[in-house]
Amino acid sequence: MVLDFKHASIPEGVRFTAQVGVPNVVQGLFRKREKVVAVAGLVQADQLAYGCTASLVKKYGPEPFWVRLVTEEALLVHHPDDIRRVLEGSPTPFASDPDAKRKGMSAFQPTALTLSRGDLWADRRSFAEAVLDTGRPIHRLGQRFAAVAVEEADAVLGLGRPVTWADVHEAFQRLTRRVVIGADAADDTALSDELGALMDAGNKMPGKPAAGYEDFHAHLQKYVDTPDPEALTGLVAAAPHTDDEETDAAGQLIHWLFAMGDTLPANLVRTLAVLAGHPLQLAEVRAELTGKRLTAAKSVAGAAYLAGCILDTMRLWPTTALFGRVTTEDVRFPQGELVPAGSQVLIHNLFNHRNRERIPYADRFAPEEWVTGGASDDWSFNFFSNGPQGCPGAGLSVFLGQAFLGRLLTQADPVVTSGPHPRPGKPLAYTLDLNALEIDLQPR
Ligand code: HEM
Repeated sequence: MVLDFKHASIPEGVRFTAQVGVPNVVQGLFRKREKVVAVAGLVQADQLAYGCTASLVKKYGPEPFWVRLVTEEALLVHHPDDIRRVLEGSPTPFASDPDAKRKGMSAFQPTALTLSRGDLWADRRSFAEAVLDTGRPIHRLGQRFAAVAVEEADAVLGLGRPVTWADVHEAFQRLTRRVVIGADAADDTALSDELGALMDAGNKMPGKPAAGYEDFHAHLQKYVDTPDPEALTGLVAAAPHTDDEETDAAGQLIHWLFAMGDTLPANLVRTLAVLAGHPLQLAEVRAELTGKRLTAAKSVAGAAYLAGCILDTMRLWPTTALFGRVTTEDVRFPQGELVPAGSQVLIHNLFNHRNRERIPYADRFAPEEWVTGGASDDWSFNFFSNGPQGCPGAGLSVFLGQAFLGRLLTQADPVVTSGPHPRPGKPLAYTLDLNALEIDLQPR
């Protein structure tokens, strides 16, 4: 007898598609569409998405279950043990290139690690880990990167007016060009614009490199061929890789550029907004930073409570709300249930991170859980993913965030002057719209 997981009904699949699947796509998979995100905020799309998955999990859990997403049924895994099984089994038998992702990402990064399988994945992965110093407490170039982050934070402080998402984004685009490519690229805004246009094209899911990709790649290749010893390009030549063309170093840099230049600052601006409304936690951050030099890599990396603030903000408002895997072969779960080859498997971070049945601090800001609690070991939390295919840039991201926010918070008092005010006392909303935020950084 073939054992199977339960199946949600067709009307439930229609609701799941409308409330979980579609909002994720129309807001822009790779570059958020500002107006659509604002409208989604108004209709509380994230709250509906949470409610939809919560009611299905209550009815069909605690095991995984099948639910229709557009035309196909996908397996929704939500229990930490099942999430772990899937993420520990990536990229084989759970590959990270389901159709929609491959079609979208091929527009701007067709050779990306995250779209790779088998030996090619292993090759590109070891290359990425070697350059990014994945798993090391501090990146080899940490001292230099902290200095760059402090300089870019000072540029934001120097604006002398309330800052918006666009201001921080611009500073981070520059920081990213300096950290990833080097000093020569600091002012190459054209490079960032080229990538932005390709990512917009990715939202339309063309399934092939978008117009302009070859030129963009050549632009990057020039920088890889003239590396800067104080940036990641300087570590490329010595990093292990089997074949220049297969590994495609310039092609790997693309993911690093958008993850550091777009995803990371989105999380940091939210952290700033949360700290502006949480005076006790802000005081704790300040106490931790007292007397520390933020250009000293060790001091930056040692700011564990500040790291907890960044991580818990990422838990509350995950920039990857929903992600997936596709099975490369038939897979049997421990009770014998069969998941056929070619099945989509979904992980709904927006729900898992706030699952009130499982997480006592679901809807409040709880940085301490990452310092002295068990949050780091909880497989419910996958804003950086987890397992062999977890984000290899996680450590570097948090480090840059610590240096950048550390500088802002030691120099200024953040006050939200417009947009959402996340405060303690009542459950935090599921949406924190970046584009609506304005934060005054008042000199201390
Ligand atoms: C706050 C910032 C970031 C977040 C939230 C984030 C999140 C993630 C997530 C969720 C994944 C898994 C995607 C999936 O399997 O579908 C991932 C993978 C990845 N991330 Fe990040 N990331 C961030 C920053 C970075 C940075 C700065 C870099 C590089 C410098 C980076 C490099 C990568 C790469 C190369 C992968 C693919 C790994 C693989 O497939 O083996 N990320 N990231």
